[in-house]
Amino acid sequence: MENRIILLPGDGIGKEILEAAVKVLHVVEEKFNHRFVYETHAIGGNAIDRFGVPLTDETVNACKNADAVLLGAVGGPKWDNVPADIRPEKGLLKIRKELGLFANLRPIKAFASLLHASPLKEHIIKDSDILIVRELTSGIYFGKPSERRENGKVVVDTLYYERYEIERIVDKAFQFARMRKKKLTSVDKANVLESSRVWREIVNEKSSLYPDVEVEHLLVDAASMKLITNPSQFDVLVTENMFGDILSDEASVLTGSLGMLPSASIRSDQFGLYEPIHGSAPDIAGKGMANPIGMILSAALMLRFSFAMEEEASAIEAAVNETLSDGYHTADLQIENGTKLSTNEITEVITEKLLINGKKF
Ligand code: NAD
Ligand code: IPM
Ligand code: MN
Repeated sequence: MENRIILLPGDGIGKEILEAAVKVLHVVEEKFNHRFVYETHAIGGNAIDRFGVPLTDETVNACKNADAVLLGAVGGPKWDNVPADIRPEKGLLKIRKELGLFANLRPIKAFASLLHASPLKEHIIKDSDILIVRELTSGIYFGKPSERRENGKVVVDTLYYERYEIERIVDKAFQFARMRKKKLTSVDKANVLESSRVWREIVNEKSSLYPDVEVEHLLVDAASMKLITNPSQFDVLVTENMFGDILSDEASVLTGSLGMLPSASIRSDQFGLYEPIHGSAPDIAGKGMANPIGMILSAALMLRFSFAMEEEASAIEAAVNETLSDGYHTADLQIENGTKLSTNEITEVITEKLLINGKKF
């Protein structure tokens, strides 16, 4: 059986890190005797340059006909002044919406060998293992109207949710909590926002269906503090689109770098879009310095969730773990006495470890 994968490199370091992930996938194909078929399409700033829009129907249709999508990152200073409706980021929001990917999973777990690489104290981060479940296709990112009025004297963004959109993401989060440590923290701003009060009601209603899961509610301001002062209190954290965006970049500090974190954007079937949580990093693009690990771990999540290849996904994670344990790292990680490598070099170490240790069939 073939697995059809759409590659969307995007902009900035997107291309560099996606190339790294594909190298790793080639090793998986070889070791485990799989056949992946790849097709590359445009998204983001480079799509604006070529087609005048950040996402073409052709790219959307290719994704709809595939089994999974791997995405690098979009955006950059070159396109910061294009009209709002065709910004690179709009392409990313549109592909998530068009594909119905309402649940964004962002697992955060510090690698044992990187505990000293975080600016946070080792004893604070050492037992943390968090899954952020971020609502991805609604909320203030998609609410209408979003506009300037009266010659720019007035500006409006709208936080809009339909009940079913909250219900389905809360259900997903409960289901993941059930498979983990059975604790769900719902993060909102219910002391101010009506949408948060409804969110809280829905979490409480749903909790009767999952009596084995312990539920707690936190306000987002306090949650952002607790995330870095006592991260081990969290198991699954569920929250709306923008809170989830911000809290996950904050949580990346536990791992030592934003470049480490993968994500899976999924819906109710096997299909998914996989991308690191970071952006196109224009400050280091083209320098061969990008950390490819967030992207490589995203490819592992693709194998796990979309292709049911648990062993292959674990083999990639083990290869990354070993690479870091041996002291190899990219420049974004603050490590004393390690070996600093380029994107290509660290990818080579990871693929070698995978080749040697991945199970043969
Ligand atoms: P960013 O995540 O691109 O970069 C923030 C900082 O982290 C930078 O210093 C960067 O060098 C560093 N960094 C990020 N990923 C790294 C990696 N893999 N290896 C090493 N260092 C890494 O955020 P930003 O600078 O605020 O945004 C830049 C552009 O990216 C913007 O246009 C933004 O809209 C876009 N963006 C896109 C996505 C996405 O495509 N999913 C996500 C976030 C931001
Ligand atoms: C992310 C990014 C995007 C988001 C932007 C680029 C639209 O920050 O994937 O985390 O906010 O969802
Ligand atoms: Mn983000």
